[in-house]
Amino acid sequence: MTQSPIKITDTTFRDGHQSLLATRLRMEDMEPMAAAMDQIGFHSMEVWGGATFDTATRFLGEDPWDRLRKFKELMPNTPLSMLLRGQSLVGYRTYADDVVQEFVERSSENGIDVFRVFDALNDEWNLSKAAESVKKTGKHLQMTLCYSVTESGKMGGPIYSLDYYLSKAELFESMGADSICIKDMAGLLAPYDAYNLVKGLKSKISVPLQLHSHYTSGMASMSVLKAIEAGIDVVDTSLAPLALRTSQPAVEPLVVTLSGTPYDPKLDLEQLLQLGDQLESILPKYRHHLESPKAAVIDAKVLSHQIPGGMASNLLSQLREADAIDKLDEVLEEIPRTRKDLGYPPLVTPMSQMIGSQSVSNVLFGKYEMISGQVKEYVYGMYGRPPSVIDPEIAKTVLKDYKKGSPVIHERPANLLDPEMEKAKSEIADITDNIDDVLIYALYPTTGLKFLRIKHGLDQMPEEMKPGFDSEPVAIIPQPRDQYPPKSQLTKTFNVFVENEYFKVEVDPADVPPGQIVPMVNQSEGINQEKIAPDFKEPSSKDSVTNNGESLVSPMPGILLRYLVEEGDEVKVGEPVAILEAMKMENTLPSPATGTVQKLQVTEGATVVKGDVLIVLS
Ligand code: CO
Repeated sequence: MTQSPIKITDTTFRDGHQSLLATRLRMEDMEPMAAAMDQIGFHSMEVWGGATFDTATRFLGEDPWDRLRKFKELMPNTPLSMLLRGQSLVGYRTYADDVVQEFVERSSENGIDVFRVFDALNDEWNLSKAAESVKKTGKHLQMTLCYSVTESGKMGGPIYSLDYYLSKAELFESMGADSICIKDMAGLLAPYDAYNLVKGLKSKISVPLQLHSHYTSGMASMSVLKAIEAGIDVVDTSLAPLALRTSQPAVEPLVVTLSGTPYDPKLDLEQLLQLGDQLESILPKYRHHLESPKAAVIDAKVLSHQIPGGMASNLLSQLREADAIDKLDEVLEEIPRTRKDLGYPPLVTPMSQMIGSQSVSNVLFGKYEMISGQVKEYVYGMYGRPPSVIDPEIAKTVLKDYKKGSPVIHERPANLLDPEMEKAKSEIADITDNIDDVLIYALYPTTGLKFLRIKHGLDQMPEEMKPGFDSEPVAIIPQPRDQYPPKSQLTKTFNVFVENEYFKVEVDPADVPPGQIVPMVNQSEGINQEKIAPDFKEPSSKDSVTNNGESLVSPMPGILLRYLVEEGDEVKVGEPVAILEAMKMENTLPSPATGTVQKLQVTEGATVVKGDVLIVLS
């Protein structure tokens, strides 16, 4: 078989800075490089979608549609690619079909040539509308296999076997995919598995095959090389300054590795190095967004326990808050069991948070004694279908008091949603009738609206959105990484006004991991929120009593979102009485006893600590 040169997709302007700099690169810093990038001869450039749409509107005061049009103008020779989260688009929940249709159409009109469409559960139900919409535009539809492993860390086993990926790929091809992408978002694809996977896929599908991998575990460069030997058509890389760590492999060493071989992509190394220098010169001001100042640039532990670094650090902070750091080992053992109970979802956002928090709850409070709203929605089917069956007994327990009823539905989640575009148009009519604006609002009713008010001159742009605010002084000599403050000190705090209440919003770059979907239902678009006014309540020791059977006490720190009962109501033991937001999840708290609700002890929205009395029963 004759080998053709490998094609390269550059991700510098999307996944590169999304992975390493919390998606904060501003257009003004990419613009000067664009024309030269266009001359390199990349197969395509990923420049849009993923988290870029959200961060542009939320943090940078930048119109994402303007950004796309500008890229198109500056880079007319290179196909522009975007990452689309299936039915969740560039947002955090399942949107109605009319939003998907309109968004894809407008993205195409504004300059997208290649749509890379994925679903975290590889569920074609969450991909079908987006796929159909892309086909209507006549642009390139790339459908994506999200790569996950079962328990051994390697491809194989009962779920994530070669057959699983082969049958998904065949299905995607039959849905009209113009190419297939293997998306290794957690860096779990081992080199020889990459070889076997690519060989297998090439024998089953006729459309081109692309590999998108993350360097997280340290395997990606090797996996890319083995994939190339196995006949992959396109691979994703980034310019060196935004490569490696949790980002893509770097393009420069690959160009040298392949030069003179039949795979030679024939890109100009000198030109790439010049662009790298240019990029390097603008990055110091963004450097504080880099992950914690660890010496290791890879997360070697993921090779042993398959628990990605982001998830492990989340668990640690959750356990610390709950004053149960000694339970870490138990939780790490519980995670594979919980994952199995719930049908082996890939441990990527949002599933990693759901599985992680549920495992913590299982260890702290007993198996499925406390279940988050998100896990209920997932088991009910609102996130799509899990890769394997959910344990029927567990499903019954989880959905016991679920508002929508007990059966696990078998219907495409979006079928349950009414159209949303007309409603969005009328709600925003006094500000704008521009369709691209309407889409911003339809996707992010809170932060999108805030952005649109600024864009249309109704509000001032806050200082923290302006260029320069979020920058460190440009250092000519880079400081050693250990001189940077730990990430916790870098978390930025903003006060925002949402639905007549003030929120203190803590923005932590780790909340939106690379390339992942973040559809946390009711989770306010993927950020930590701590409500401070009007009813912030200082932790008070006099309220901290142990549960004597007549009071509901908070089992952990969090926000008492709402009560499900009123004073004077009769309640039975086990009846859901309050919703506590903790560990980024909404948790329903059951009544500890049968009796009458005498007093609702805290204001809805108040911050509570472990042991605070929430309801007094008599
Ligand atoms: Co990615």
